[in-house]
Amino acid sequence: MEKLVSLCQRRGFIFPSSDIYGGLSACWDYGPVGVELKRNIREAWWRSEVQERDDMVGLDTSILMNPKVWEASGHLAQFSDPLVECKSCHQRWRADDLKENKCPACGGELTEPQQFNLMFKTFMGPVEEAANVVYLRPETAQGIFVNFQNAVNTSRKRLPFGVAQIGKAFRNEITTGNFIFRSREFEQMEIEYFVKPGTDDKWFDYWVEERLNWYVKLGIKKENIRLREHGKDELAHYSVKCIDIDYNFPMGWAELEGVANRGDFDLKQHMEYSGKSLTYLDEETREHIIPCVIEPSAGVDRSVLAVLCDAYDEEIVNDELRVLFHFHTDLAPIKVAVLPLSRKESLSAIAKDVYADLRPCFVTQYDDTQAIGRRYRRQDELGTPYCVTVDFQSLEDNMATIRERDTMNQIRVPIAALRDTLQAKLAGEDLFVLPEGGQIWKDEKK
Ligand code: GAP
Repeated sequence: MEKLVSLCQRRGFIFPSSDIYGGLSACWDYGPVGVELKRNIREAWWRSEVQERDDMVGLDTSILMNPKVWEASGHLAQFSDPLVECKSCHQRWRADDLKENKCPACGGELTEPQQFNLMFKTFMGPVEEAANVVYLRPETAQGIFVNFQNAVNTSRKRLPFGVAQIGKAFRNEITTGNFIFRSREFEQMEIEYFVKPGTDDKWFDYWVEERLNWYVKLGIKKENIRLREHGKDELAHYSVKCIDIDYNFPMGWAELEGVANRGDFDLKQHMEYSGKSLTYLDEETREHIIPCVIEPSAGVDRSVLAVLCDAYDEEIVNDELRVLFHFHTDLAPIKVAVLPLSRKESLSAIAKDVYADLRPCFVTQYDDTQAIGRRYRRQDELGTPYCVTVDFQSLEDNMATIRERDTMNQIRVPIAALRDTLQAKLAGEDLFVLPEGGQIWKDEKK
């Protein structure tokens, strides 16, 4: 983890928040490369779970909500962790994280556990009084439940169907750490999938498998993922059943995503507290029913961390360490780097033309700063799948070299065919045909 944290900072993936002021505990900023990786993860999720499905619509609801929402959802009363304080050094700990009943910092005696609510409070408007308290949402899910009727009426979806949302959530976690694994401000990708009561077990199994496959499709190794069912004592106050999709992080197996059967808990609660109907008219039976909900709830930041851990690799090439990320091409922050062999005007002119041609199609970086070997290593550390090199021979034969990150194979193709060739390769097309005049070779030996 230490190596990863330092590489992420050095290469512009992730920085501590407000770093020049000494940071802010458990808050992180995504840098120029990290922001692209994070966007690609969100987009891959949105594409496969919303845009490519007939049974899903999206929402983007506000972070601040009427405080009654949190009364109804049970978060005000129950969204808490047991907190203990050391009687000697006064450090505070989450009781269920401790292996022994003494302070991990000084060995001192601990107080009895007290429930500590994890929601951040603030005030709405200019007067700081109890009547104006609002909360930063601790999950994006409630924005979906309170819009259930709006979603049904405007999308005209019939059961089973889902509503998806990506957005920030906030929790005043007692213990944080492990880089971006547990932070106080983070992002969730949540689906509330509404089904007819009685079909919820079937849909629960469906979503566990669908979500597991999603990670594998994006290149996460199967052996690094496992399923873990919650014991009855672990279940959140709203859920009937929950299976975690765990990832084998450097600090051990931990939750990447939870798939929960929330039953009809949330819709019922909001009906009771708002006095509004959140029922659904079953067209077959003409009865008003309250659907059950299956909730696959993933963390964007935890997905970023899992992708980084899974893609990280070290190998020795020509007696030197090569560090690289084997990102799936859909997730790689930079798809192509254009690297002129030298800064000579004649080469820069061609390289800049190539750059201008590729840029509208892929996230492309132009780099003419150091020796070519160093520039390849830099792109390896950014996980860039393809580098395009323009050299002096290009001036004569109008060809350029494509160098592949994972194999370090090089192919030489006509400049006019670069865009199509890269497009095919990035799409993972097996039927890649070397364009007319192209050659393949390998000159960096593993
Ligand atoms: N709506 C259900 C829900 O919020 P959860 O298991 O508390 O369930 C869902 O959270 C996901 O959100 C987790 O699997 C994790 O990926 C992410 N998550 C939760 N707390 C987090 C934190 N403090 N930091 C980063 N990610 C977090």
